[in-house]
Amino acid sequence: MRETLLLLVLTLAGTFALDNGVALTPPKGWRSWERFRCNTDCDNDPQNCISSQLFEVMADRMIEEKFVLDYDPESSWDYIMLDDCWSDLKRDDDGKLRTSYSFGGRIQELADYMHARKIKLGLHLDLGPRTCNGYPGSKGYFEQDAQTLAEWGVDMVHLDACTANVDDLDTDFPAMSNYLNKTGRPMYISCGWPKYLLRKGIQPDYRKIAKYCNSWRVYEDVEDSWLSVTKAFDYYGNNTGHFNEIAGPGAWNDMGTVVGDYGLSYDEQRVQMALWSMMSVPLFMSTDLRKLSTQSKDLLQNYWLEDLGGYYGNRPGYRFRKVRTEILISKYSA
Ligand SMILES: *[C@@H]1O[C@H](CO)[C@@H](O)[C@H](O)[C@H]1NC(C)=O
Ligand SMILES: *[C@@H]1O[C@H](CO)[C@@H](O)[C@H](O)[C@H]1NC(C)=O
Repeated sequence: MRETLLLLVLTLAGTFALDNGVALTPPKGWRSWERFRCNTDCDNDPQNCISSQLFEVMADRMIEEKFVLDYDPESSWDYIMLDDCWSDLKRDDDGKLRTSYSFGGRIQELADYMHARKIKLGLHLDLGPRTCNGYPGSKGYFEQDAQTLAEWGVDMVHLDACTANVDDLDTDFPAMSNYLNKTGRPMYISCGWPKYLLRKGIQPDYRKIAKYCNSWRVYEDVEDSWLSVTKAFDYYGNNTGHFNEIAGPGAWNDMGTVVGDYGLSYDEQRVQMALWSMMSVPLFMSTDLRKLSTQSKDLLQNYWLEDLGGYYGNRPGYRFRKVRTEILISKYSA
């Protein structure tokens, strides 16, 4: 009986998921947005601005701190993702995306740097005419941008839709996903799609979304605050029925970053890691790895493995019951 049930679950997951061989377990890595935002002021803040140097330093830290484990791909935090503000403000004369000056025009070199260290490189694109921060969007350039990413050796793309027309989302995400497929380069396709539908009060068709995306953002960005973490989890608990049957290998709910940063106390970080592990969502940290505490590092690397080994990477959990309770969490652990 048990085996029959298991088979049923696998079959269902296989039917919905994007079939590109990527993200068979929830991906893990590091992304720039929550901590470094759109800081492009490399003249005055060279250590923290969005530049190839920042990403190379983070890659080095991830190696030194043993986040990247080439002998154990399932446990490895092996993605590094460049969020918005990596590109030049203008495309070149042929309409091709260019990197900003602080990358020296060399995303390909950065990709080589990552690949030599068994790290995969992710890039942020927006399907509207502009990105959230006013950089060139991909509207009208889907095929060319997909080709450019493949040519640069990119392994992951986060498709955002800050400036896209909400009526276009259900055709544009599939179109872009198909162009990415046509490049022949497997990429982990992370989508902001449902988030933008939900903002307009439209219930997303997660079954369709899972055909084109390896993960999809079901709620707003998680900020480095306890309120933001609990709101996101509350939303997940309220809405699991809409997306949980669909999530599985190759297709995951995305609940935003896990934060080992200064906005959450150690105990709050523990709760977040426990919840995010039980939800089987991609785990992307967005901390300054030059300042990561040993406690947070241990939590990120071990907590979900040792204490929640049975949950992580399997089917996502449901909120079993919501009880009115007051959770007292000390800001400073004893
Ligand atoms: C493209 O899609 C086909 C059919 O779903 C799949 O078998 C193939 O692995 C995909 N290729 C890439 C590069 O995503
Ligand atoms: C979850 O549902 C409860 C009860 O309907 C509601 O009060 C709360 O605002 C919802 N939370 C979110 C984040 O949607």
